[in-house]
Amino acid sequence: MFADMSMKDRRVLITAGASGIGLEITRVFSSAGCRVMICDIDEAALATAKRELPGLVTLKANVADEASVKNLFAQAKETLGGLDVLINNAGIAGPTGPVESLSKTDWDQTLAVNITSQFLCAREAVPLLKSSVHGVILNLSSAAGHLGFAGRTPYSASKWAVVGFTKSLAIELGPFGIRVNAILPGAVDGPRIRAVIAAKAKNLNVPEDALTKRHEEQAVLGRLIPARDVANMALFAASDAARNVTGQELVVDGHTQALI
Ligand SMILES: NC(=O)c1ccc[n+]([C@@H]2O[C@H](COP(=O)([O-])OP(=O)(O)OC[C@H]3O[C@@H](n4cnc5c(N)ncnc54)[C@H](O)[C@@H]3O)[C@@H](O)[C@H]2O)c1
Repeated sequence: MFADMSMKDRRVLITAGASGIGLEITRVFSSAGCRVMICDIDEAALATAKRELPGLVTLKANVADEASVKNLFAQAKETLGGLDVLINNAGIAGPTGPVESLSKTDWDQTLAVNITSQFLCAREAVPLLKSSVHGVILNLSSAAGHLGFAGRTPYSASKWAVVGFTKSLAIELGPFGIRVNAILPGAVDGPRIRAVIAAKAKNLNVPEDALTKRHEEQAVLGRLIPARDVANMALFAASDAARNVTGQELVVDGHTQALI
């Protein structure tokens, strides 16, 4: 444990916290003694998370929808009595394919969930964070937020946008003592990356096993990233141990050289 890392009783809102990386972040912040609220569009997954962690506050919300986000923050304010940490985790993979094959609907949906949601949530969170002495925003980007990613143009564009949004917001909110950082995971092990690899294997007409190995080898450490490692970075970045870290790309990707 780092010095100054106590997170006891911090009020934390995690978007899309019911599965994947969001659920792992939820577990880590809950076990650090935070008061955690999560939202998700998947009600069954919210119920499962609540069974695992009975202290959780859960709410169904679609973070790409303005009215739903307003309701989410009204509930957070009432239930948590304010906010110290917002973790903008929600994100979708978006379509896979050459740009000329993509529909505008898929493009719009990817940007809506991956970047517009972060704007909508930050806009509601900032007035609450200004009343906190530990205000922090963490935005989930990706290794595809600082590398090109052929076949995944909407995803990559949205994740680069997250970095620009983060750096701009960090400058805007620095005078209020609010820190804003982006987390850039590499390929995280779990069902989502397996589905992405399967879609890509089909697209490229190559065996899935060989493509999994190539994904591992795109990082110099030669392995996929456990979701727990991303959650640990989030906990550090939200804590006072990182009190002078803001406006940064916090990369957790085994030093990924290129995305395939
Ligand atoms: N998995 C990876 O390899 C990887 C790598 C880099 C970055 N990321 C980023 O990390 C974040 C989490 O990814 P993940 O792999 O855990 O995703 P996931 O697909 O495993 O889980 C996503 C969760 O988001 C919820 N969700 C989807 N749309 C939503 C919406 N509009 N409103 C509220 N909830 C919604 C889903 O119901 C689900 O519970 C994303 O921003 C993703 O882009 C993931």
